[in-house]
Amino acid sequence: MKSIMLVFGTRPEAIKMCPLVLELRGREEARVCVCVTGQHKSMLKQVLDAFLIEPDYDLSIMKEKQTLFEITISILNKISGVLEKEKPDVVLVHGDTSTAFACALACFYLQIPVGHVEAGLRTYDIYSPYPEEFNRQAIGIIANYHFAPTEKARQNLIGEGKNPSTIFVTGNTGIDALKTTVRADYSHELLEWASGSRLILLTAHRRENLGEPMRQIFRAVKRITETYPDVKVIYPIHLNPLIREIAGSVFAGEERIRLIEPLDVIDFHNFLARAELILTDSGGIQEEAPGLGKPVLVLRKSTERPEGVDSGALLLAGIEEERIYNSVSGLLNDNNLYNRMSNAGNPYGDGEASRRIADILLGQKDK
Ligand code: UD1
Ligand code: UDP
Repeated sequence: MKSIMLVFGTRPEAIKMCPLVLELRGREEARVCVCVTGQHKSMLKQVLDAFLIEPDYDLSIMKEKQTLFEITISILNKISGVLEKEKPDVVLVHGDTSTAFACALACFYLQIPVGHVEAGLRTYDIYSPYPEEFNRQAIGIIANYHFAPTEKARQNLIGEGKNPSTIFVTGNTGIDALKTTVRADYSHELLEWASGSRLILLTAHRRENLGEPMRQIFRAVKRITETYPDVKVIYPIHLNPLIREIAGSVFAGEERIRLIEPLDVIDFHNFLARAELILTDSGGIQEEAPGLGKPVLVLRKSTERPEGVDSGALLLAGIEEERIYNSVSGLLNDNNLYNRMSNAGNPYGDGEASRRIADILLGQKDK
């Protein structure tokens, strides 16, 4: 029997770890413990409810407008007791959040082995995304197992000198989640509102985009709706109050732009499946949308998901108003480009990543 603890705290980690929790809970050889840090509160609960998962521990650390110092210190203080009590054989963390970094650091201090799910993503620009690029590189130093979603991610880890026998290419567990959420018969009143229009689904939340970059992103979107009367925009806004202030000021009074509360993951995946195109600075959405044949304009200076750019599903649109406006216009005006992007395919997995990770951890397969 192997005791495996999974630790996560934000919405995207939960969406990508819950399929793995369910997979491991179905294995007789595993004793599974779920610890959430509560770095997110209601956005995390939305995901746990959707997957019907009740955590064994909730550190409940979230504070309004929390700083990186507060998140990291609170987690380190609260997780040590949980790790010392449970003494897991291995702890799994996901990706690049402060939850993942702080938990990996705590495991290192206690010399508990760490498995890094979604390992090897890199921009090699320490400030983009910030602080995520640092977090994932630091976790990479600590981790004993690196579960890389793609061959490119594996190559990054090899290039950094990681032992090849500790790296496993598994696909991304986020794609596993899509298998259970998207439904052909899905309906929603907001999709009714958008029917007959070209629907742009927008999300923006990155810490390095807060302030002027986000204002420029929103101005570009507003100009798009002014230029194209057949375009409607739905923006489920992240609960960060700093984002809400900017969105509220730029989008006030816009009838074809709906600012809504965060959707639960089942709703969001079905909105993705119905949208014409996606504008986002999110990481996970860059993987999910190509899986659903939807073009993505990435609202960032750089991306750690080059596979999607290379395949043609993602286009890096930057964070400046003029460039974003031109990129969106270009796509709305060019059917050939649109078709190429939507038919580019999905390089991020086949929906079997959780099974592969469980097999590796439980010793049923080497690679
Ligand atoms: C965090 C992660 C980021 C990830 C993102 C996903 C870090 C440093 N950042 O950024 O990598 O892409 O989550 O969304 O780990 N809030 C609520 N309720 C919630 C969630 C958030 O009110 O359920 C508000 C709080 O005021 C909180 C603020 O949002 O202080 C920011 O949350 P935080 O986790 O610090 O940063 P994110 O931008 O969400
Ligand atoms: N998502 C969601 N509801 C929303 C917006 C996004 O469930 O209203 C999901 C989305 O499908 C993806 C994840 O949240 O799986 C992405 O989270 P986010 O953009 O917050 O973080 P990132 O991926 O950038 O770390």
